[in-house]
Order: sequence, then structure tokens, then C-alpha cells
Amino acid sequence: MLALVAQPGVAHSTRVADVPDAKLVEGRVPIRALEIGVCGTDREISEGVFGVAPDGEDTLVLGHELLGMVDRDGYGFSRGDLVTATVRRACSHCLACHAGAPDSCLTGDYSERGITRLDGFARELVAEDPAQLVAIPPSLGRLGVLAEPASICARGIRHARAIGGRQPWDPERALVIGAGAIGMLSTYLLRLAGHDVWTASRDPAGDPRAELVAACGAHYVSTVEQPLAALREEVGGFDIVIEATGNAQVMADTLSMLRRNGVACLLGIDPRQQTVELDGPVLGVDTILENRVVFGSVNAHRQDWLAAVSGLDRARERWPAALERFVGLRAPLDRFGEAFEHRGVKATLVLSAQ
Ligand code: BGC
Repeated sequence: MLALVAQPGVAHSTRVADVPDAKLVEGRVPIRALEIGVCGTDREISEGVFGVAPDGEDTLVLGHELLGMVDRDGYGFSRGDLVTATVRRACSHCLACHAGAPDSCLTGDYSERGITRLDGFARELVAEDPAQLVAIPPSLGRLGVLAEPASICARGIRHARAIGGRQPWDPERALVIGAGAIGMLSTYLLRLAGHDVWTASRDPAGDPRAELVAACGAHYVSTVEQPLAALREEVGGFDIVIEATGNAQVMADTLSMLRRNGVACLLGIDPRQQTVELDGPVLGVDTILENRVVFGSVNAHRQDWLAAVSGLDRARERWPAALERFVGLRAPLDRFGEAFEHRGVKATLVLSAQ
């Protein structure tokens, strides 16, 4: 069957290839892949800087943002059900993985579909463990392809609340830095939770991303026109900050965007070898005297997947036209290059129209 594969460690090795059929052994649910979202991690694997092939193989099937359709009744699912599937699988020898939280794996020996030691979903038919499936309500339809990135945001926000909630706290204002898929989905989830949200990116006001931000009632800030420091002066600091630009300097700067008891969550990745600057008194005085926290978050727990799917469905009800505009490009598998180049909020690969 056809699949999108890459050779981890080798730049520009991504190609459509014929791969062996998925093994439909007992205990697996056959799923027809409908649509696969593309993200920065796929681009990094494609550029040869990330990813690990399964043991004994040199190629990896890409794709970790699945929207699929169950192909056969069984294990509590019916043929035709829309589903997605978790990405990370337990290492089986740590406390967190034993507790069903591989997103908090203590060893790093986990595997991840389409990223690390496990083939991904960008293939015509996928065989999956039913315990890893997450149902997508029919009302959400093709927008279910946003479940995986939304689960990353849901985890970050859940952890920010848990950290902030270690002391009396009543978060009102949130700042999201970055207006890609993670920034935009965080914006929508924070708005659903009732926060007053500012979303900042380098795009000028009037850009389609700015319109998408405004469509859910958040404030758009073009950092070209109003740098983050000026925004802080004007608004007065934030309770929750989500960093989703993947820029280590901006990550360091989040500390100065917080107000008392504020929590900043870093979701982007910046692997560049560099030194970043941190304002001395912001770290040495404000962080302590104002109980501020900056933390990183990766992957998602099953509870975050469930929260993400329900959040997406509520967002669709509340801002239907807006959510539809998240996916700016749907390309067939053989035009994966266009999807990888796409600079809108989200591009997907369509494996089956139905
Ligand atoms: C995925 C996560 C994964 C992370 C690190 C991200 O793109 O969304 O599920 O844990 O990459 O591999």
C-alpha cells in the first residue's frame, strides 16, 4: 500500500513509497486513514534532524496527526466511526508510563507514531490498538484532524492551571505568542475557558491569521507594530502565557510577560545552538517576589485528547466558519511537498475523500 516515508537522519528523503500492508493481527482495529495533519515535527524529520526509524529498519512511515475511519466492527467500534489515535506509547519501565501517562515518561524510552521507533499514520490502512483510539464525534467531521495538535494545547493549559493552582489564583488574562496551529488552537481553547486572550505574532494586522484570532473574540497583536514589552506596559502582565513560536529568545522573554502568580508554558521547539538573554531583575527579583513560573510541556495524556476533541466540537459550534478556516490546504499524498511548504495555520494530506 502507499505511504509517506522518510529516512530519519537523511535530509530530503521523504517520498511516497509502496510499503507492506498493515498487520491486521488479533487485538488491532483496521482504520482507513482519511486525512493526516502536517506539523513542524514532520518538517524536521523530513530535513533529517529528528525522528528514529523502527528497530531494524531505515525508513519511517510519517504522520502522527490522524483522522481515520474504522474499517471493521469490533472492540467497541463500528465500521464508519471516525477516530484519531494517540501518538506516544509507554516505555513500560517507568512510574509515569505504568500510571498511563507516557506523556510524562521518565526514561525517554517511549515510542511515538510517525516520529520515534514506530511507523506513523500516513498510509492507506492503519492497524491500531483500540486502547489508543479516540472517538471523533460525527459533528466534528473532517475537523477531527485537528485533535492531535489540540491535545498538545490542552495538556499545556491543564498543566498551567495545575501549577498556577498550587496557590490561590484566579487567572483572567492569557497571552499566546505565535499564530500557527498550536498558537491558534490554544487561543480558541483559552477563549472557550472564558479567558480574555491576546494572541501575538509577526504577521501584520489584517493578515488572515489576525482575522482568525479576532473571530473567537481574542485580541490580535502584531509584534512588528507593538513589541511584546509595549504590550505588557499597556495590558499590565498576564496570568497564563503560551509560547508557540519555537524561538528560544521569545521563550526566555515570557518570564517578563507574567504578572503575579503567572505561569508560562513553552510548547514550541527551538533546537538552534545559541545563547539567549534574560533580563537580570526579571529573573532575580520579579520571578521570586511574584511567584512566577515558566515550564515546558510535550505530548498529551488521554484526558487531554478527550478535552481537545470536546473543545474542538464546542469551538465548531460557537465559531463554525472560523474553525473551518484552520485547514488552509488539503493536498493529496503525492503533493506532500506543498503541504510541507504551506505557511498557513494547518495543511493536511488527504488519503481518502470519504
Ligand atoms: C507531537 C508530540 C510529540 C512531540 C515530540 C510533536 O510534534 O505533536 O506528540 O510528543 O512532537 O516528538
